Amino acid sequence: MKPTIRRIAVNTGGGDAPGLNAVIRAVVLSGLRRGWQVVGIRKGYLGLLDEAEDGLIALDESTVRGITHLGGTILGTSNRGNPFELPDDEGRPVDRGPQVAESFHRHGLDALVAIGGDGSLTIANRFYREFGLPVIGVPKTIDNDLEATEATFGFDTAVATATDAIDKLHPTAQSHERVMVVELMGRYAGWIALHAGVAGTADVVLIPEIPFDLESVCDKIRRREANGQHFSIVVVAEGAVPEGGEHVFQTYGHGQKRLGGMAEKVAEEIRRRTGKETRHLVLGHLQRGGQPTARDRLLSLRFGAAAVRLAEAGEFGKMVALSAGGIRAVSLDEATRRVRTVPLDSDLLQTARDLGTCLGD
Ligand code: F6P
Repeated sequence: MKPTIRRIAVNTGGGDAPGLNAVIRAVVLSGLRRGWQVVGIRKGYLGLLDEAEDGLIALDESTVRGITHLGGTILGTSNRGNPFELPDDEGRPVDRGPQVAESFHRHGLDALVAIGGDGSLTIANRFYREFGLPVIGVPKTIDNDLEATEATFGFDTAVATATDAIDKLHPTAQSHERVMVVELMGRYAGWIALHAGVAGTADVVLIPEIPFDLESVCDKIRRREANGQHFSIVVVAEGAVPEGGEHVFQTYGHGQKRLGGMAEKVAEEIRRRTGKETRHLVLGHLQRGGQPTARDRLLSLRFGAAAVRLAEAGEFGKMVALSAGGIRAVSLDEATRRVRTVPLDSDLLQTARDLGTCLGD
């Protein structure tokens, strides 16, 4: 049965990704066309807990004008904003889920379009399952690691940025006859590293799905050396692991751990084993910035409009997903079940092997 909708909300949670603003614009314009009011919740769910009452912003045509091409999110976001485990002043987790649900109803909201990656969509699903909130999910993440959708928006832009960076490393590596090791994001999935590594014609690509053997990496560099190619480009996914080894993490304030640092370790070992001058860099958050590519903008606009159609049809507890070129609805349960990693029989991995790229095995 179609629900009666007068007022919907949209929020953005977790790490930002290029295309968030395009989704927001599509949700707002599609909602307004149906005669609904649309409000944005600031910083994920935190805006619903904002006692100053400015955690919600009314969104109209003027607020979403000229934002399709902008990176970031006009609503703000947080990846430390899980309302079920919100840190108090001493950093202890407090469950504020019930307050969020109460605030949602108090503000007269009839649906929520939650734009997020696996963390934010898991939170959205809890609100749907445990509190009955009418939630629709939109898959966002540069990592492209969400189950049940062939692509998330933000990924294409991140790959373009990373490929551009690899292109820029080539001339300096060649001129100095160095090995350049670049670390790319992606958490426990190698999508960004594999796509950018192949597009940027890296000599070695190390992804989490294939534990690497440093001797195989060094052999590749030695073979290139013997062929008169005195430089090499090595792409390392932040979640890559050596055979029998472990992930590398960096610790930030409040003891938060984030993947990072594998490129430095790989570079040091390559230098030690081959004697080649070696440099490393971490591309980091540059991969999340910048203008979304046309492909990401289109995916974002399609996802946002489709999410509003789902809300209109009362199909809550679902996420919009890309499937065989079209958009379909999948349950949030299915969408958040597990991380989508690169299949070992994927065509792109096979292509990399056929081209002679070393995958570290
Ligand atoms: O999930 C997106 C992502 O950019 C990952 O690729 C990366 O590991 C992580 O977020 C970095 O998070 P933060 O913004 O907290 O440094």
